[in-house]
Amino acid sequence: MRVRVLGSAAGGGFPQWNCHCGTCEAARVGVRARPRTQSSLAICGDDGPWFLVNASPDARQQLETLALPADGVRAAPIAGVLLTDAEIDHTAGLLLLRESATPVCVFGSAGVERALRRGYPVLEMLERYCGAKWQTLKPGRTQALEGSSLSVEPFDVGGDAPLYLNGSDVDLEASGFVFRDGAGGGVVTYVPGLARLDEDVLARFAASDLVLVDGTFWRDDELARHGISGRSAREMGHVPLSGPGGTLEALAGLQRPRKALVHINNTNPILLEDSAEREAVLRAGVEVAYDGLEVQL
Ligand code: MLT
Ligand code: MN
Ligand code: ZN
Repeated sequence: MRVRVLGSAAGGGFPQWNCHCGTCEAARVGVRARPRTQSSLAICGDDGPWFLVNASPDARQQLETLALPADGVRAAPIAGVLLTDAEIDHTAGLLLLRESATPVCVFGSAGVERALRRGYPVLEMLERYCGAKWQTLKPGRTQALEGSSLSVEPFDVGGDAPLYLNGSDVDLEASGFVFRDGAGGGVVTYVPGLARLDEDVLARFAASDLVLVDGTFWRDDELARHGISGRSAREMGHVPLSGPGGTLEALAGLQRPRKALVHINNTNPILLEDSAEREAVLRAGVEVAYDGLEVQL
């Protein structure tokens, strides 16, 4: 199977349009840090097409990197879109798929479907343009992806509903995905939002060949320290990397998988290639994913 990180930044991208924090300014200069688009992954089995995992606001330019010569005038580079959650940075790109010549296949939990019908009705909108074919994924249940040798098994990773659902009765938590390839083998676990680092999650990581994990924040109080927001990393549904109980410590203890961080917020000092925090990540045997990172398993 092939896995390509299309976007390695969290919502807002890197640099973020209205941000003048030190890391965003470094990305604008482009020497100590490289710019990144918003969180998205592409995956394909040894047999079959690419699938998109999360549809970011940068989907147009991201999908262009997957485009292949085609027989017809209109041919989509992906066979479907799998959603780990209903956050805007993972779903706004659905609207960019409205030019599709065929209904767009979208996979996600029942809670994500409710959010995308009642809070932010992009499914209903897509239905009126190109059509949308929704398929519900259930936690712990492996589902084959039609036309592909890949299967996906979602699992719960905690977190709360997107802010646009405040005041509604729709409740949901984020999923991680375990992808397995029935043709070529290989196990990939993708978790761009991780709120709960428990035994179940760690066991899935330990049984993977590649884990791509939430690297949003270095510290729990990162946004408060910048004076950006009073919300902590954990309150936003992201276990921070550093400190006791942090993600880095947990990843450092895993033997089997190759480990890389994704969904990195623009304030995170690991984005600076010469920072002590980046050095600590590498010392833990963990990589910092970048746009275009491709792994073949
Ligand atoms: C998140 O990852 O926590 C969300 O995408 C935050 C947001 O963009 O509102
Ligand atoms: Mn996000
Ligand atoms: Zn910034």
